[in-house]
Amino acid sequence: MIIQNVAVLTKEGVSTHQDLYIREGKIAKIGEHDPEARDPQTISFGDRRILAIPALVNAHTHTGMAFLRGVADDSPFETWLFERVLPREDRLNGQDVYWGALFSQMEMARYGIALFNDMYMFTDQVCQAVADFGMKACVCRGLVDQGGENGRADENLRTFKHWHGYQNRIRVGFGPHAPYTCSDPYIARIVDLAKETDSFVHIHLRESKRERELYTIESLARLGLFEVPCYMAHCVHVEERDLEPMKGSKAIVLHNPSSNLKLANGVAPLSLFKEAGLPVILGTDSVASNNALDIWREMLLTAIVQKGVSGDPTVFSAEDVFRMATEDGYRWLGFPGSGSIERGAHADLAFLSMEDVNYHPFSFEDPCAPSKIYSYLVYSSSAKDVIGTMVDGRWVYLRRSEGSAPSAFSPDDFPTVDAKRVIEEIDRMSVRINTDG
Ligand code: NI
Repeated sequence: MIIQNVAVLTKEGVSTHQDLYIREGKIAKIGEHDPEARDPQTISFGDRRILAIPALVNAHTHTGMAFLRGVADDSPFETWLFERVLPREDRLNGQDVYWGALFSQMEMARYGIALFNDMYMFTDQVCQAVADFGMKACVCRGLVDQGGENGRADENLRTFKHWHGYQNRIRVGFGPHAPYTCSDPYIARIVDLAKETDSFVHIHLRESKRERELYTIESLARLGLFEVPCYMAHCVHVEERDLEPMKGSKAIVLHNPSSNLKLANGVAPLSLFKEAGLPVILGTDSVASNNALDIWREMLLTAIVQKGVSGDPTVFSAEDVFRMATEDGYRWLGFPGSGSIERGAHADLAFLSMEDVNYHPFSFEDPCAPSKIYSYLVYSSSAKDVIGTMVDGRWVYLRRSEGSAPSAFSPDDFPTVDAKRVIEEIDRMSVRINTDG
């Protein structure tokens, strides 16, 4: 495949009028635009102002919760979880989760995301939805201790055996939901499973203030939690001394600023993580928490909220934050060949239309363009400026320039699924699940 005449964001800067050659899922060549070059699959955007960037990564999701968008807005965290979310989840079956995970991938592909890190139930169905739609994913079962009963951990292990490594697109790990829903022996057993399978754990950690009284980070370290790659969502209520057991470990922070702010849980101390050498990557959490699987928003919030609370506008630059949402995301989630546009890298790419008013007065010819581009990407961009997303060189979203108006939604833009049917299923399911308003 040749993608003709686009601007390309590489580590060295921005090059205009380039052709991208994609072979067997990887970037085979990046070269000056050649109008004579031919390939059975040539895509040309004509003279449009299109920028190719590494596709984004959403490092904390619950994709099966698609049907819960907006069901508990402006509620206290406890009401949100125990009165609104959990009773609805009891009504779900595997098919619901399959359609939810397909729908969530449509939303993420629409926003330029190629990889996500998911925790939910019915994980076989989540993996099937990933296989069918075409994104990359880390998947784990959300595990809650039920008094010594290992049923869900066994279910998680079955999913691991069946799906881990699928087309090099799916990694399966283990998902102890949180230290306050899992006993110490249960967490130790899950850590052992992750060790035995050379996999990872994904957990919610210190999301809300009351968790300070419920468990210590030190006690989790004694259970071996940080001896395996440990994806820790939120980490809002941690102090410097809590980070001691994590230093030099395999702990990775999943930062979800809009969820933390909307549920009034607070602001995570990212500068402390940076000083302790802990990697930080960005996630949205579910649409019940922040109402959109939009990593562009999380990038903006990461940069501006950290500046706001520290009083220092130089911290978390646009370029740093963009890297957290791309290269660092792939690296720490176990997909090291993605996240930059260079020869030999996986073709996990997003294409951005830079034609609208929010991309002016930016000029590719400006000598400062290589640094200014990150400012535009983090502070001025909008998720809906994405016109194409590909995973391993395969389109999962492509807005064609011909036909409908550029801003109109079209189910035809999702080549791997029957998007109209997915939307009908999710709407029907939402009516059945959300019976109590
Ligand atoms: Ni979460």
